[in-house]
Amino acid sequence: MDYKPAPMVAIFSSRGPSGLSKNILKPDIAAPGVAILAAWIENKVEDIPKGKKLSPYNIISGTSMSCPHVSGLAGSIKSRNPTWSPSAIKSAIMTSATQINNMKAPITTDLGSVATPYDYGAGEITTTESFQPGLVYETTIIDYLNYLCYIGLNTSTIKVISKTVSDSFSCPEESTPDYVSNINYPSIAISNFTSKGTVNVSRTVTNVGEEDETVYSVIVDAPNGVKLQVIPEKLEFTKSSKKQSYRVIFSSTSSSVKEDLFGTITWSNGKYNVRSPFILTV
Ligand SMILES: *[C@@H]1O[C@H](CO)[C@@H](O)[C@H](O)[C@H]1NC(C)=O
Ligand SMILES: *[C@@H]1O[C@H](CO)[C@@H](O)[C@H](O)[C@H]1NC(C)=O
Ligand SMILES: *[C@@H]1O[C@H](CO)[C@@H](O)[C@H](O)[C@H]1NC(C)=O
Repeated sequence: MDYKPAPMVAIFSSRGPSGLSKNILKPDIAAPGVAILAAWIENKVEDIPKGKKLSPYNIISGTSMSCPHVSGLAGSIKSRNPTWSPSAIKSAIMTSATQINNMKAPITTDLGSVATPYDYGAGEITTTESFQPGLVYETTIIDYLNYLCYIGLNTSTIKVISKTVSDSFSCPEESTPDYVSNINYPSIAISNFTSKGTVNVSRTVTNVGEEDETVYSVIVDAPNGVKLQVIPEKLEFTKSSKKQSYRVIFSSTSSSVKEDLFGTITWSNGKYNVRSPFILTV
């Protein structure tokens, strides 16, 4: 508990970018996975030193140790919000993540450099804010199926995988990288940014806060060489309009961008901060 700095992105943590698509940021999130004490069934009697007892516990490290932390958090969020979809829960976890360690400094990697979204996605999970995220990004089943089309699966294979898909579903004729960037995901990833110059993406957020009437304003953190325009800059929710959409126009102001760029878009109503990381790849 006194270990400083913590958290830190471990050497074995799964890093981005995704090998499947540069238009969905991966990883999504980071969670504790180093020296985790948990119940354990695999200790072999012959491994136990003489005079010691077989322990039903063990301390190990790995991505398989951080997965149960996120799963447990997802389960707790679902039990408090039984109507939320898996994508709403995922959004709650991602948009409430932290990027600050216990020394009030940016989270770093095992090498000591400041972590980027390729190291921790949206950041390290938090266990209080994720129960009340304010707004959520809901991703539909069709979004996921179209993504599977994009990465090369055909309509008949997708019908085998998804029980809920209707008979009329078929892969879009042309699902492009731009299509994938516009999937309603809690983060934004744009490929080939330098050659495109200007890119448009849209997102829709749903108010899940306790107040029906609330106004969120946007706060943008853009990297050097990039201009962001968010339209509109304020989202007004009412009892009858729980969903609001916005558009982000990314434009390059520098022709010499040579590396992937990171930034954030945060919607705030003063009480909740709904943060999305974005990445622009060259
Ligand atoms: C779809 O993909 C599967 C697996 O690759 C293949 O066996 C099947 O023939 C494909 N179907 C069509 C209609 O292309
Ligand atoms: C990037 O641009 C190249 C050339 O225009 C194109 O072939 C490729 O598909 C694009 N890739 C992505 C991920 O946008
Ligand atoms: C962005 O989207 C708007 C509305 O769909 C459109 O009018 C505009 O031309 C688009 N801009 C770019 C750069 O694609």
